[in-house]
Amino acid sequence: MIALPPLTGVERFLGEQELIVSKTDRRGLLTYCNDVFRRISGFTDDELIGRPHSLVRHPEMPRTVFHLLWETIESGREIFAYVVNRSKNGDHYWVLAHVTPTFDRNGTIIGFHSNRRCPDRSAIEKIRPLYAQLRDAEQRAGSKEEALRAGRALLAKTLAELQMEFDAFSFSLVEPDREPAIAGERR
Ligand SMILES: Cc1cc2nc3c(=O)[nH]c(=O)nc-3n(C[C@H](O)[C@H](O)[C@H](O)COP(=O)(O)O)c2cc1C
Repeated sequence: MIALPPLTGVERFLGEQELIVSKTDRRGLLTYCNDVFRRISGFTDDELIGRPHSLVRHPEMPRTVFHLLWETIESGREIFAYVVNRSKNGDHYWVLAHVTPTFDRNGTIIGFHSNRRCPDRSAIEKIRPLYAQLRDAEQRAGSKEEALRAGRALLAKTLAELQMEFDAFSFSLVEPDREPAIAGERR
């Protein structure tokens, strides 16, 4: 395990044309990371390859979202989700992640693949309150299992009210005339 410093509160931004790419095995251990991933996360290939993808996990991310992510990809489907990750030095960066299973020629899942791009700023501002509510529901629960039950129930209720699936909800947050995100760093 790498001992990581505390979060800095400094946000990093992906360029408009940049894609973060990673691949994992079936258990979520990293097998490939592109140079954009290495640059924005600040980790080297030696630190990334063979490690769990949760190396870049940020505490603002609800467990519920990763539970849904794994449930979806393990059932052979793809998912789009907004994710905030941490960098090695404690900075953070938001992405819109597309995560898909990789199949062999027999249709068996042999790993997973994720491409992430710069998210719409207004989408981040809209997703944050939902993620905060999910984390609150998780934290009020007594155990990990109850936390997931509470988070999944709240997410299901929110989506039912909106009459949307999770992916459609993610896309609904994007405004038609989207402002380009600012490349570089800012606090
Ligand atoms: C292809 C792929 C990409 C993933 N990308 C991320 C990511 O960018 N950030 C993240 O925190 N978890 C990501 N995950 C989910 C992690 O495997 C893990 O479920 C999550 O970090 C929660 O970890 P924890 O349960 O140990 O807290 C990804 C998983 C897969 C299979």
